[in-house]
Amino acid sequence: MTLISRSTKETASLGETLGRAAVAGDVIGLTGPLGTGKSVFVRGLAKGLQVPDSYIPSPTFTFMQAYTGRLPLYHIDLYRFSENTQQTVIEQIASIGIGDYLFGEMGLHGVCAIEWADLIEEILPSPRLMIQMDIQEDNRRITFCAKEEGIRLRLQSLRQYLGDVAL
Ligand SMILES: Nc1ncnc2c1ncn2[C@@H]1O[C@H](COP(=O)(O)OP(=O)(O)O)[C@@H](O)[C@H]1O
Ligand SMILES: [Mg+2]
Repeated sequence: MTLISRSTKETASLGETLGRAAVAGDVIGLTGPLGTGKSVFVRGLAKGLQVPDSYIPSPTFTFMQAYTGRLPLYHIDLYRFSENTQQTVIEQIASIGIGDYLFGEMGLHGVCAIEWADLIEEILPSPRLMIQMDIQEDNRRITFCAKEEGIRLRLQSLRQYLGDVAL
């Protein structure tokens, strides 16, 4: 499913809709160049998961930030890992325990949103929703891709939203 978001607010609303539909164990991978709206989308996702507005992101946010909402949200940003040439990104994240969020107890009970997910796509669980964001003129083109049946259901809620609201 591909659609065009014409504003920051629209992208956040899409994230929020997905957040309302999300269930424990969902893995959402965001890809696309810097400044395309991945973080905006995750902010909406947090709202849809009822993370309080008063939440202030930690200034020490390095690669993972946990938010408390209807379900825990683990927001992982791999941007800083892309430039180290000594080790692969997968080796780097293995050493800091990201697997606990993706495959362990924490991931099973929460929702994982990963920016720059293409860097580790080969180790992501297959029931995942991938969201590719690109710049298209002044807008953003957002492509949703879910290969596994369960997570496709979450796309249904987005489709419904698109039917209700003229984007
Ligand atoms: N349609 C749109 N969707 C999302 N962000 C948009 C849109 N139009 C403009 N923007 C702006 O683009 C920037 C996206 O930033 P951010 O979400 O941090 O990007 P990323 O996390 O992909 O690097 C924000 O400043 C946002 O206001
Ligand atoms: Mg970002």
